[in-house]
Amino acid sequence: MNILLAVSGGIAAYKSAELVRLLRKRGADVRVVMTRSAREFVAPLTFQALSGSPVHTELLDADEENAMGHINLARWADVLIIAPATANSIAKCSHGLADDLLSTLYLAATCPVYIAPAMNQAMWNKAVTQENIQKLKSHGVTVIGPAQGDQACGETGFGRMSEPLEICERLLAEPLVRRLQGLKVLISAGPTREPLDSVRYITNRSSGKMGYALADAALKAGAQVTLVSGPVQLAAPVNIEVIRVETASQMYAAIISRAPEHDIYIGAAAVADYSPVVMQSEKIKKQAEQITLTLQKTRDILAEVAQLEHRPFTVGFAAETHDLERYAQDKLARKKPDMIAANWVGGDQGGFDSDQNALQVFWKNGQKTLAMTGKNQLAAQLISLIAERLSEKPVLKKPLG
Ligand code: PMT
Repeated sequence: MNILLAVSGGIAAYKSAELVRLLRKRGADVRVVMTRSAREFVAPLTFQALSGSPVHTELLDADEENAMGHINLARWADVLIIAPATANSIAKCSHGLADDLLSTLYLAATCPVYIAPAMNQAMWNKAVTQENIQKLKSHGVTVIGPAQGDQACGETGFGRMSEPLEICERLLAEPLVRRLQGLKVLISAGPTREPLDSVRYITNRSSGKMGYALADAALKAGAQVTLVSGPVQLAAPVNIEVIRVETASQMYAAIISRAPEHDIYIGAAAVADYSPVVMQSEKIKKQAEQITLTLQKTRDILAEVAQLEHRPFTVGFAAETHDLERYAQDKLARKKPDMIAANWVGGDQGGFDSDQNALQVFWKNGQKTLAMTGKNQLAAQLISLIAERLSEKPVLKKPLG
């Protein structure tokens, strides 16, 4: 496992030297990046000796660019850990600044990112630091610690960097690392809009958050990801090809034409089951007391992907308001995906538009419950489960890395 350790300037930098030693002892390949202020606390030579590789310090260094530039370093890493992460480096990363090697690497990294904060307890408790931490968490960063106790400044409270052994164990347990390396993953997300006339449409409450989180988790697991997205308010993800569609039939066309060249298809979109037979070219006038809309069943993308001759490993979702297991099992049997991830919708927790969700995942002869958590975390767990199931399938197009 390739671990990129970025050390920022705090007294806890000395603990990171021990972290390198522990990681190397357990077989990880470690490269170290140090900020200018980190070098005030520990000499780069210490990290060079422990990691067995030159330490990277400058964003623009002709020699280092030739050896391994920041983009190459980011690509090399299976995991990026910032330890210690000072309040300043946390603020920079959470705001997308890129004015030194550490912050630039954070932006360039597509692998899972961990931070181990270390700072004075008052700085840690300050609202702006907590906001920055929440922002990083919402971007999928895993925060380890900080621990509570006596601090170098003489105060007591939360702010001590977690112990190197704890950080080491957390990193080596990272579930996503390269589990989908070399594989192509196609994901659908968001709602569809079925037009009634030139200004009105039928849609649903899907925000796209679940599908976008899955796309991000698949990318972090090393996959090449294509996201077919209905109309959502989310920012376009970086390093993911996004195909924007509006209607169920556009989503059908975008997915069916691409599915055979993909290894995995995940249908997280809330595709309309019915669409108006006629779309009026002009706005429907308000006249009669009642009007009747005639709707036609849409084509079932999931079921058709599962029937393709060169079908990807196919994962469907089931959005249910009652009898979750019965309906999910029914969809598994009828639409024939390899797995179905069922969630409760229509309540006040999870499902549509929420930042949280829980899933009950079913496959032939098996099931797993993924408890209520943030959609980023849940997506990582589902991708991990898919990688597990996929590696057990007898016909696998490409070996997993
Ligand atoms: O987008 P969010 O706000 O984050 O909310 C997430 C979610 C609740 C939308 C998501 O977790 C979810 O459940 N997605 C599937 C919603 C849905 O349409 O469920 P369904 O039970 O109606 O459909 C079952 C499966 O068939 C789904 O994989 C769906 O994509 C697929 N389908 C449905 C109709 C159709 N014409 N073609 C399809 O492929």
